[in-house]
Amino acid sequence: MKILAINGSHRAGQNTAKLLSLALEEAQARGAETELVELSELNIKYCSGCNRCLGKPMCSIDDDMTQLKEKMLEADGIILGSPDYFSNVTARTKCFIDRTRPLHMTSNQLKGKVGGFLTMSGLDNCGAEATNAVMEQFFATHEMLIVHPRPEGPVIASSITGSLMAGMKDGKPRWRRSVDEDPIAPALARQLGKDMVELIQKLS
Ligand SMILES: Cc1cc2nc3c(=O)[nH]c(=O)nc-3n(C[C@H](O)[C@H](O)[C@H](O)COP(=O)(O)O)c2cc1C
Repeated sequence: MKILAINGSHRAGQNTAKLLSLALEEAQARGAETELVELSELNIKYCSGCNRCLGKPMCSIDDDMTQLKEKMLEADGIILGSPDYFSNVTARTKCFIDRTRPLHMTSNQLKGKVGGFLTMSGLDNCGAEATNAVMEQFFATHEMLIVHPRPEGPVIASSITGSLMAGMKDGKPRWRRSVDEDPIAPALARQLGKDMVELIQKLS
């Protein structure tokens, strides 16, 4: 079983990567082969809108997306993570999303694979749900099966949204040094790794 995580942050190894790594850690502990791809370390150009992929599952651009699409096709599960930028995914993440069009236009080549997503944000209630919705729609468009992690016990969130805000004190916001100090998102990210392995096992 292969699980691929893709980080759409411009900052490799930072908060979004940390959450993705927790999901992969849990998946690996359950026997999955895992890999984290940092989009910021790849050369992925914008879709040019040439529409070559309408007729054939091909792209006219030759860059690192060719190899990344191969990795996606080999994976049983794909996790996409993005920071919340203006209540949306980063432009880097959107560029990646657009470039997956050849996997979708003539047939859905990722159909039936398992998908999961998470958002990292600076503030609470400042667009993370909208950011997650973009990624959920991405997986739905590819006809992938989406995991919504739910740890045992009381409901704590409906999606994985890390935040750097630790509340207010004396009228001023207090900040976490990193998502490691977020009391909720790391637990949900771990649960995503567990639930993803479980669903892939049920499907196989
Ligand atoms: C251009 C820009 C726009 C941002 N927009 C938002 C926003 O709308 N809401 C929010 O909560 N945080 C916003 N942030 C904060 C980032 O989501 C936050 O810093 C996040 O931790 C980045 O993830 P990273 O550490 O993986 O890079 C923005 C940051 C930048 C640079």
